[in-house]
Amino acid sequence: MKSYITTPIYYVNGSPHIGHAFTSIMADILKRNRQALGYELMLSTGVDEHGQKNQEAAQELGMPIEDYLDMRCAEFRDVFDKLDVTYDYFVRTSRDGHKEAVAGMEQSIFDKDLIVKKNYTGTYCKGCEEFKKESDLTEDGQCPLHPTMQVEQTEETNYFLKMEPFRERLLKHIADNPDFVQPVAFRNELKQMLAEPLEDLCISRPKARVTLGVELPFDTEFVTYVWFDALANYLTNIDWPDESYAPWWEECEHLIGKDILKPHGVYWPIMLMAAGLPLPKKLSVHSHWVGAGGVKMSKSIGNVVDPIEVMDKLGVDALRWYLARHMRADSDSQISVELIAQTYEAELNNKLGNMLSRAAKFARSKFDGKLPVKGELTAEDEALRQTVLKATAGMGEWIDLADIPARTQAIITAAAELNEYIDKQAPWSLFKNEDTRERSKTVVYVALDCLRIVMEALQQVIPASAGKALATLNVTEVARPWKPELDRLPGGTELGDIQPLFPRVQ
Ligand code: ME8
Ligand code: MG
Repeated sequence: MKSYITTPIYYVNGSPHIGHAFTSIMADILKRNRQALGYELMLSTGVDEHGQKNQEAAQELGMPIEDYLDMRCAEFRDVFDKLDVTYDYFVRTSRDGHKEAVAGMEQSIFDKDLIVKKNYTGTYCKGCEEFKKESDLTEDGQCPLHPTMQVEQTEETNYFLKMEPFRERLLKHIADNPDFVQPVAFRNELKQMLAEPLEDLCISRPKARVTLGVELPFDTEFVTYVWFDALANYLTNIDWPDESYAPWWEECEHLIGKDILKPHGVYWPIMLMAAGLPLPKKLSVHSHWVGAGGVKMSKSIGNVVDPIEVMDKLGVDALRWYLARHMRADSDSQISVELIAQTYEAELNNKLGNMLSRAAKFARSKFDGKLPVKGELTAEDEALRQTVLKATAGMGEWIDLADIPARTQAIITAAAELNEYIDKQAPWSLFKNEDTRERSKTVVYVALDCLRIVMEALQQVIPASAGKALATLNVTEVARPWKPELDRLPGGTELGDIQPLFPRVQ
């Protein structure tokens, strides 16, 4: 069983931001989930190094283009490493093998007479690296996604891919494969994009204007349009055109933000059809993060959430947790350092961290550093155990992008019940009295065994903290395929060191 998960490859015209962190972290969560189910995984993330926008960013810093790309590439890689994103392949589109494969793909489409050369006048948005129709622009003629970047009027000769011959086939594919685009709101949006005849897609840029790109194999005066080149990464990462690409490609799922639905839902499938290649299995689309109050993040407002700053202040898992737990499937979600800090305190620290340190400290001091052996269980013990099993079961099943918030919320709700259980049972009081001392052992056992299940489940979301917690419980190995199971902590096990999981911050 294989699964190939991709993220967009991000433009390197600036530092990695919270949106980049988000999609790559979600991809990592899905990877860990599928690994827990026993799948073999391939996760790719990386950078999109071509196009006008990157070229101009290097010019602005007065850096040689290669140095600039190396610098940004190292920066993105470093951030993903810090975010515990366990990518198997880090994409750079400047790699020779990628460029050769892109040229090969273009040549094969050109040979089928699906590419035409013609003169074109149009409006271009550098932010999107896309030509725009008048109906795509705001009332004052700007791109709604990049209102501060002036759109440009261009008139040039370029090469174009014929799109319309494939429109009906793509619509049929979408109708025949209801899972092709998720969630349904974005499938409908895509169908809308395909409701009218499609214009030819410009797939080149004259070198006079853009040099940072893959040279066209059939005309050296031109480089390839950045989107054509970037989309092909999904194939070149797995060694296409080598045959070995096929078993991964069959299981390919693209994670993307709604901003790039059109290139992934229209251009890419048609490029693949034109090249005679199968389509990816699934497009999983998410909405965007915006500042508190629903305000778009911007430097001038000062509400930009910098992933590095959050990690330095609160740790990587504060960020991973917030992004996983508070993403809304149906609309944009709000984020601020303040909101992340509140969630960290209320959920991670109060419900998980404190729970572990209270119960483990108690066991270490009263039961000779060991986990006690449990006695007979009460109805309350059984009820708690069932609650925890039920709440964590979702992490032992396949998770789609849109399922992540509900699955993580279920776990934190169970953790709250676990806290209530231990407060109510109060093993510290039970311990004081000879008659109830045995009972205190059972309560501590039940609580810590439940907490173990919670932490095993959370390895998919906050692996570093969950790993620390499991080390305290002396759990070294978690079976695969994983599912929540009771009584996996043997009574009498030596407990490990108690490290603060979520230290309190200012
Ligand atoms: O579009 N909330 O790169 P890009 C959530 N190079 N996710 C966000 C976000 C936000 N506010 N902002 C960005 C490109 N993202 C192309 C892609 S792929 C073949 C080429 C995430 O740097 C989200 O995944 O503009 C979005 O689709 C992506 O970053 C765009 O990154
Ligand atoms: Mg963008």
